[in-house]
Amino acid sequence: MTESAPKPGSKRVYIKTYGCQMNVYDSERMQDVLRPLGYRAVDAPDDADLVVLNTCHIREKATEKVYSELGQMKKLKQRSGNRMTIAVAGCVAQAEGAEIMRRQPAVDLVLGPQAYHKLPEMIARVHRQTGDRLETDFETLEKFDALPKARRADGPMAFLSVQEGCDKFCTFCVVPYTRGAELSRPVDDIVLEARNLAAQGVRDISLLGQNVNAYHGAGPALEGGEDWSLARLLRHLARIGGLDRLRYTTSHPRDMDEDLIAAHGDVDALMPFLHLPVQSGSDAILKAMNRGHTSDHYLDIMRRMREARPDMALASDFIVGFPGERDRDFEDTLALVKEVNYAIAYSFKYSERPGTPAADMFGQIPEAVKTERLHALQAILREQQSAFNASKIGQTLPVLVTGAGRQAGQMHGRSPWMQAVHFDGGPELAGQIIDVRIVGASLNSLTGQLPMAQESAA
Ligand code: 5AD
Ligand code: SF4
Repeated sequence: MTESAPKPGSKRVYIKTYGCQMNVYDSERMQDVLRPLGYRAVDAPDDADLVVLNTCHIREKATEKVYSELGQMKKLKQRSGNRMTIAVAGCVAQAEGAEIMRRQPAVDLVLGPQAYHKLPEMIARVHRQTGDRLETDFETLEKFDALPKARRADGPMAFLSVQEGCDKFCTFCVVPYTRGAELSRPVDDIVLEARNLAAQGVRDISLLGQNVNAYHGAGPALEGGEDWSLARLLRHLARIGGLDRLRYTTSHPRDMDEDLIAAHGDVDALMPFLHLPVQSGSDAILKAMNRGHTSDHYLDIMRRMREARPDMALASDFIVGFPGERDRDFEDTLALVKEVNYAIAYSFKYSERPGTPAADMFGQIPEAVKTERLHALQAILREQQSAFNASKIGQTLPVLVTGAGRQAGQMHGRSPWMQAVHFDGGPELAGQIIDVRIVGASLNSLTGQLPMAQESAA
């Protein structure tokens, strides 16, 4: 496609990522496809040759942020003598397509989540000032097939995308429209990518998917190719040398099967942390959301998870102010939160997304009520999160050291429950799993000390 091989790192790409971990993963993959074209990632847009905004459409606020950022990028582009190329990727690109270029003509190209492998080709086209600048059509497995398998690991933790899209159609959610139908990657591809990451020193992998526990990818051809479940995939990945920690996110209660729950009890590498969004504790609201489960069903899963693995920490997402939500529905949410006792949870005011069924429902909730409910919910969640972190004080935890901390002489790592841990230590510890004694806790992190004589236990 190109005339001659570009000099490595001769061009600069700035990728700004919004939203979920799937976008973080996709941004890394975009870097991978751009590297052979001579692009090197930079962490500020000022002198970039290419700026990619990898966007999120899940709530209105996220979408509006993109347009205001594009306004800033336009100024930088003008300052560069219009040499800078601006690309909009991700779910806003998928949902709004050509509208983006109408609203902000400085944008050169728009590409949806299924088209990242075509980024180099599209950039080449922009440079030649010809052809179509829009690429947002869904294409089945082509995306996964076309992305390079050899990824460059960035530290000892990595994301690995195993599944994309969603067929659940929760009535508030744009994902089934922006990310398309559910699709699982074949086992062989995932194993190849995982081995490659492990060989580069990655020890903690989070399997990603919008509906990751609905995973049903084709098994190895040599074994007849029958579909594998997520539990079977996890058991298999746990045998790869060096992969000490496995996680998966985000799951749906309807796909939490027996085998997956059991895996938490018998696969050591599977970390004791589950992000299982419930959204609401009210059965009436869950029904209106088309979640396909009741609060009792959810609580039963949580109980069984803790039976399988007593040190299990639980996480969720919540939406307050869904259309029709009465005080007593909200009370049910608070009651569920108190019953589960979360380690961490994310909560949002319901945001009307055009084209989703909930946007046309009666009983839209006034903003002030949404705000009040969000504050009440977040106060309890903060308390639970602080208490969970504080419960680790005095314990010695295995911490995967991810890199230098904010202050000189400090290192940063992650506990089995994904808590950030700061402690005094040297850079030689990076990439190891070491014992750290926890001496302090706050809402968002732990502080620890290296117990003498245990510094190199891996
Ligand atoms: N309004 C508010 N929150 C939403 N989420 C998804 N769609 C909406 C919406 N329209 C939240 C859900 C989901 C998380 C990723 O974002 O809680 O689990
Ligand atoms: Fe959206 Fe529901 Fe699918 Fe999650 S399960 S991505 S909330 S439609």
